[in-house]
Amino acid sequence: MEVQEDGDHFISLQLAGLASAQMALRAAIDLKVFSIIADARPDAHLSAAEITSKIPTKDPSSAACTLERMLRVLGANSILSIARKPLGNNGEHGCHEWTYGLTKKSRCLVSSSTTDEATFSTSFILLVTEREMLESQRMIKDAVLDPRRSPFYKAYGVNFYDYMGEKPRLRQLFNEFRRPLVCFLKFESGFKDLKELMDVGGGIGTTLAKITSMYSQVRGLNFDLPHVIAAAPKLPGVKHVAGDMFKSIPNVQTILLKWILHNWDDEHCRKLLINCWEALPRDGKVIIVEMAICEALGNNLEATDVLIQDYFMMLLMNGGKERTLAEFEDLGKALGFTKIKIFPMPHWSIHVIEFHK
Ligand SMILES: C[S@@+](CC[C@H](N)C(=O)[O-])C[C@H]1O[C@@H](n2cnc3c(N)ncnc32)[C@H](O)[C@@H]1O
Repeated sequence: MEVQEDGDHFISLQLAGLASAQMALRAAIDLKVFSIIADARPDAHLSAAEITSKIPTKDPSSAACTLERMLRVLGANSILSIARKPLGNNGEHGCHEWTYGLTKKSRCLVSSSTTDEATFSTSFILLVTEREMLESQRMIKDAVLDPRRSPFYKAYGVNFYDYMGEKPRLRQLFNEFRRPLVCFLKFESGFKDLKELMDVGGGIGTTLAKITSMYSQVRGLNFDLPHVIAAAPKLPGVKHVAGDMFKSIPNVQTILLKWILHNWDDEHCRKLLINCWEALPRDGKVIIVEMAICEALGNNLEATDVLIQDYFMMLLMNGGKERTLAEFEDLGKALGFTKIKIFPMPHWSIHVIEFHK
């Protein structure tokens, strides 16, 4: 057994600050604190007053005091680094101010023109700190005691996708939050011989537009719920189709299911995959893009990333969950898909899984 030492209670007291760190982080993103520091110089350290001078506040000196306390919490969580800067003549009489710089954690939140990882990470943080997400997390205990409904359903009385239909801000945030497509689009062997691809649950069609722009021989069909299709822009090479994938899917050569199966329990996945099977010709296939839970749950960043996504599936969707590769294989085989091919994609814990009819 571990021996308790004097001061150990400080370790447990840090747990009380976990939510504060996340909310301070959200405020810092909204106020563009990380970009303000990065724009000064990549390795810059700025004081709260210097950062505040770039923020449109009504009262800069009071705002700098509030900001300073927020920055210190970010510093305590290694989201910013803190340095002591002497003031006046070499810091006579011990006068100094604190300055704040980017760390590995916050540098990844600053957009650069070459990657969209920052857009993904910031929109994910903004999404998971939205009021509805926080309110749902207060219902986790109730969902353990009575697991028939997700915490989100317990808080709002509807399923997450129906709720989003009525909430433009949440819908916009959700649409912005997309894992970078770069690695998945390199899945060349999967697209170069296709004539027709239907992205089922394709949202507003962004993924499909990217695919059809790279593989011009592909006729793109984007299938989603009517309220999603109603808000979808016109996109070259993409025809939008409104419908309910649990009722029926129009006939098509190949189906893409990207981040769809993880939203649903096994029974819904089976129903959806049966509808896919019926829509496909004899030589058709379903291309599934999902993260996969590692068989050995190690304490590494990639494994943790999948587990965090799995936590949000539990939060939002009745029966939603991330799966292991073996679980995907079992699903496909049980429905009679004859050949199952798995392609691990580098980074982002993503796998492309083909179910061949
Ligand atoms: C997690 S999002 C994935 C969106 C997109 N495939 C992507 O990778 O960005 C799930 C999508 O499934 C759609 N969806 C949910 N229920 C549906 C249904 N019954 N029929 C068709 N689409 C549905 C949602 O509207 C949403 O766009």
